[in-house]
Amino acid sequence: MAPVDPHSYTDGAHPVTAHAALAFYLDFSASAIHASALLTLSAPHSGDLLLDTRALAVHSAATATDPADPIPFALAADADPVLGSALTLTLPPDTTSFLLTFSTSPAASALQWLSPPQTASGLPFVFSQCQSVHARSVFPCHDTPAARITYSLLLNVPARLSAVAAARHVARRDPVPSDHRGACDDALWCAQGRIVEEFHMAQCVPPYLFAFAAGAIGSRDLGPRTRVYAEGGDSLLDDAAREFAGVEDMVKVGESLFGPYDWERFDLLVLPPSFPYGGMENPRMVFLTPTVIKGDAAGAQVVAHELAHSWTGNLITNKTNEDFWLNEGFTTYAERRIVEVVQGEERAALNMGIGWRGLNRMMERFKDNMEFTKLKPKMAGIDPDDVYSEVPYEKGFQFLWRIERQIGRPAFDEFLKKYIATFKFQSIDTETFLEFLKANVPGIENQVDLDVWIEGTGIPPDAMEPDSATYRKICTLAAEFKSGKIPSEDEVADWSGQEWELYLENLSKDVEASQVIALDERYKLSESRDYEVKVAFLQLAIPTGCRCYFNEVEKCLKQVGRMKYLRPLYSSLAKCSEEEKMLAKRIFSEAHEFYHPIARSVVESILSKHG
Ligand code: BES
Ligand code: ZN
Repeated sequence: MAPVDPHSYTDGAHPVTAHAALAFYLDFSASAIHASALLTLSAPHSGDLLLDTRALAVHSAATATDPADPIPFALAADADPVLGSALTLTLPPDTTSFLLTFSTSPAASALQWLSPPQTASGLPFVFSQCQSVHARSVFPCHDTPAARITYSLLLNVPARLSAVAAARHVARRDPVPSDHRGACDDALWCAQGRIVEEFHMAQCVPPYLFAFAAGAIGSRDLGPRTRVYAEGGDSLLDDAAREFAGVEDMVKVGESLFGPYDWERFDLLVLPPSFPYGGMENPRMVFLTPTVIKGDAAGAQVVAHELAHSWTGNLITNKTNEDFWLNEGFTTYAERRIVEVVQGEERAALNMGIGWRGLNRMMERFKDNMEFTKLKPKMAGIDPDDVYSEVPYEKGFQFLWRIERQIGRPAFDEFLKKYIATFKFQSIDTETFLEFLKANVPGIENQVDLDVWIEGTGIPPDAMEPDSATYRKICTLAAEFKSGKIPSEDEVADWSGQEWELYLENLSKDVEASQVIALDERYKLSESRDYEVKVAFLQLAIPTGCRCYFNEVEKCLKQVGRMKYLRPLYSSLAKCSEEEKMLAKRIFSEAHEFYHPIARSVVESILSKHG
């Protein structure tokens, strides 16, 4: 056994899946997918082959040429909480492809099934979120970013729904029996009122970038290669089209900075409010939380980030989750370069400031577990969702910014373009990056302490707090709050959500309840419709013991399932007194069905940690 990734059963001595032909029958009444997967290996193989699965029921394995010719298989009975269950196939000599049939569980960790009362349209909805280790709950695969696949996908859905995927849409057409390769009965597949949406992904991607959604999805064109999709009806689509009108320009900016956009289309899908992230960089079809649509700079920032992943993350991919900073650190850097062009230097500096606060906060969060303050932490046995933090984003950003300061922007830009062109459509590790850096920036190891940056804990001494006029003004105002000063209407007149966010996050944590209340009376932050502001405020208010905001906390936790908000709110409550703990438990028991399974399990682990 030659492990390639602490989060996968993939054996490095064996070939990996190169192509998957998937046929999915979406059974909304059972919250399950009945499926077949025709998997093709990168090279012929005989004997044992290991695949990752989680909570899948595997019905059959057969040779590709004859579905009646079974292949012996065994699904490990004792599922590992992080890895899931290995599926071991015993392949006949020189097998290059084989056919599996299986069903997903209603508890599949990647999938959220929303029932009609839970959606805006009153029709069912389902979507996937596979990063980091959840693709295996949708289909058996080599679920490591070290292995890249192309795939075809048939989604059989009720004809009143439509489907989207992070792949090229080929056709919407009637089902035919030859489609499904045993995913379910012909009668079910071809039943009246069913339709097939067909997709093809010709570019090789890591399995965590596999994505689809199905429901009453409408769309609006934004530009020649951009369109926005959403479930929420006409008014949401109109708002979204307005919010994202500048996306084509942003793609052009990306191209000028990082090289050609290689994915043909850049479409956006606005998900229901339970989407567990701000955004997810699924290729050709970025997934977004609806909370970014608020008509200010923040929506564009999230889009800039997910767009930037088209180069850093999707073209060049981290080899394992231990190299996650290669995805998120580079993308945070690239995001800010895009923001700088489209929104200006001040806005970019403000984002850097918010990031800097976030990085410092993480040092506190991980003070008893400094491993996770490293750029390249050891992750064996660790669930990536549990240790998800700003460290790979912001320490990664700081590292690249440090190199940029050392060699100057023109040289760094040239380096970045060459890095992307050299490694595109590959999955690489940190060591490969470092070698490339040293080869292309001779002497860099004598100027920047690469070991401290990569292997050290904490924030390196040559990291830099960003600076700009707005940033400094906000930090000063925040420092004055301690002595009782609340900013005047004039001082906040031109503040948008991000200015407030930075202000709130810079306030000292040992403020008095009365001060917090006074601030809120003046600016109604607890009722802000901007969740970044609302959550930053509530997070400040909860530890002061001020219970007048319980109502707003509860509303927030029941309206939005984005983990960026769930994590700090549930953690603050769980760290408080018995009354707050009870509140957290009650809210979770009432809200958990609304959360995506990933969010559900993250909240469960927060609540269990604090008893
Ligand atoms: N790829 C991430 C989201 C992610 C990370 C999902 C790890 C699962 C596991 C995405 O690109 C991201 O970073 N989203 C941020 C956006 C923000 C930095 C602008 C988010 O969701 O908050
Ligand atoms: Zn990202």
